[in-house]
Amino acid sequence: RVLSGRPRDLAGRKVVISAGGTREAIDPVRYIGNRSSGLQGYALARTAAARGAEVTLVAANVALPDPAGATVVRVESTAELREAVLTASGGADVVVMAAAVADFRPATRSDSKIKKSDAGGPEPIHLVTNPDILAELGARRSTPSQVIVGFAAETDDVLANGQAKLARKGCDLLVVNQVGPGLAFGTADNAATVLVAGGEPVEVPRGPKEDVADAVWDLVAARLA
Ligand code: CTP
Ligand code: CA
Repeated sequence: RVLSGRPRDLAGRKVVISAGGTREAIDPVRYIGNRSSGLQGYALARTAAARGAEVTLVAANVALPDPAGATVVRVESTAELREAVLTASGGADVVVMAAAVADFRPATRSDSKIKKSDAGGPEPIHLVTNPDILAELGARRSTPSQVIVGFAAETDDVLANGQAKLARKGCDLLVVNQVGPGLAFGTADNAATVLVAGGEPVEVPRGPKEDVADAVWDLVAARLA
């Protein structure tokens, strides 16, 4: 689909977007992962490029073709995603964390495939907490004017949980997805409430993920101006 008719309000801006979902290896053939398709992150990349931005897309385990006009860095684990995002974010005007980041990873990764017969039954998998990349970005912006955007899928107390998350992570915008039948994971459509640091929330009605993306860029462009 050709994206046209958009303002070029991100011309000359460097934008970093993470998309997809990280995977944490258990052994050479197994991982802990999540259901993120990468569709929302890719829609953000396409629309940002259409609005004139220079886009770096950090894609974690996404089965989608590279968006035109974006530099794509492919990663698997949270450690790899963190490294790629922090590297690309130096000198970026905007960083958008649309990726679903695994909160935990196995404390150890077995070098050989774990066999069913080992030790006579399943061993527990010990987990450790991953670093919070968005909170790191919020705590040390590479420039004072850098705009940091997070995403969150909440099922309960959506606004209260979202506001607390926005403050805790020190980001400028938090896009809270409504999770429900036919919404969010793996679907073309999305609906969201964008929480704005120091401002009123903005409702984005159910529609294509590109509409949510454009609503995010409208708010980002206003903060950059
Ligand atoms: N995120 C991140 N690093 C992590 C976890 C999350 O950068 N280790 C980012 C996500 O990319 C997203 C935002 O933080 O933009 C919110 O993710 P979410 O999972 O909703 O937040 P958590 O702090 O992990 O809280 P929860 O307990 O609700 O999962
Ligand atoms: Ca989480």
